[in-house]
Amino acid sequence: MIASKIVFLEVEPEDSEKVRQKFPTAKIENMVLTEKEVWEKYPDTEILCGFIYSTFSKKLIKNLPNLKQIVTRSVGYDHIDLAAAMARKIKVCNVPDYGAHVIAEHVFALLLSTIRCVSKGDNLVEECQFDFHGMRGIALKGKTLGLIGTGKIGKNVARIASLGFLMDVIAFDKFPDLESARENHFQYVDNLDEIWEKSDIISLHVPLLPDTKHLICKDSITKMKDGVILINTARGGLIETKSLILAARSEKIKYVALDVLEHEKNIRKYRELIELPNVVITPHIAFYADDSMNKMFSEAFASIDRFLNGEKLEHEVFGV
Ligand code: NAI
Repeated sequence: MIASKIVFLEVEPEDSEKVRQKFPTAKIENMVLTEKEVWEKYPDTEILCGFIYSTFSKKLIKNLPNLKQIVTRSVGYDHIDLAAAMARKIKVCNVPDYGAHVIAEHVFALLLSTIRCVSKGDNLVEECQFDFHGMRGIALKGKTLGLIGTGKIGKNVARIASLGFLMDVIAFDKFPDLESARENHFQYVDNLDEIWEKSDIISLHVPLLPDTKHLICKDSITKMKDGVILINTARGGLIETKSLILAARSEKIKYVALDVLEHEKNIRKYRELIELPNVVITPHIAFYADDSMNKMFSEAFASIDRFLNGEKLEHEVFGV
């Protein structure tokens, strides 16, 4: 057993040094530990900092009697039993924004890789074929991009599209922000039908909620332009997969670019979708870049510092 006060879980080797420099006596785990492993290895933990693949359940909290603060380096905190933490007056902090531009940039990585045949071209060159035939691209300038959700990520996508690629950007959001529309050069439409009907490219940036589940389904796809391009970096559950496969196969949707799937732990389920030549999928990496990882750690460090200094916590989350 190792006595410790601050424990960092799920720290990748390339991030270990910054944790060591900031908190030289902290214990660092590069792997995801089971809850039992956490409490058996570090029974004296006072501050526990992890990411989304660690679970902070009632049982873990019960078995760490000295625990005073939990910090998750993620936006989401549904892997933490807030009620159990509140009952023990344990402070819980998250990182509400680790860099929306990083996710927005990935939207264009996905989009360009499909419409400019980047991975197809690379595969051909690796086979020693240097021939452009069959890889005619689609230009972005002047095309209409329809965004659903104009929060932190959506508005970054709008700005890049309008100022960078000179696209016309239209958007739908349940809670429109007209100042953001002016600042980020996009225009709101009144309903989703306008998005389906007018967009050459559609990109999803809403949370997965009961009213957004299967937003992309047979009905909405039918209303879209023929040959539309669909990008989803938000949550897999926004799309009804069977309808998507049919639409991609018939090229009603010409290209599909995804960073998220409905059941990411069981991707065999998606073989049919994955194997379609007009579908590009990355394994939920939109968030994962130098800036965002640095910010996740610096914000987590700040929350721990504030807690240790008895200061008001900036990113505290509460249970209902
Ligand atoms: P945000 O909370 O800043 O913005 C969400 C927007 O959606 C808000 O403007 C809200 O008014 C709008 N909205 C909510 N319900 C709606 C509805 N029914 N119809 C229309 N608009 C609706 O969220 P943010 O940071 O922009 O993230 C968007 C989503 O991206 C997140 O919910 C998350 O699921 C996903 N995400 C994916 C990541 C990845 O690595 N692939 C990383 C981070 C977030």
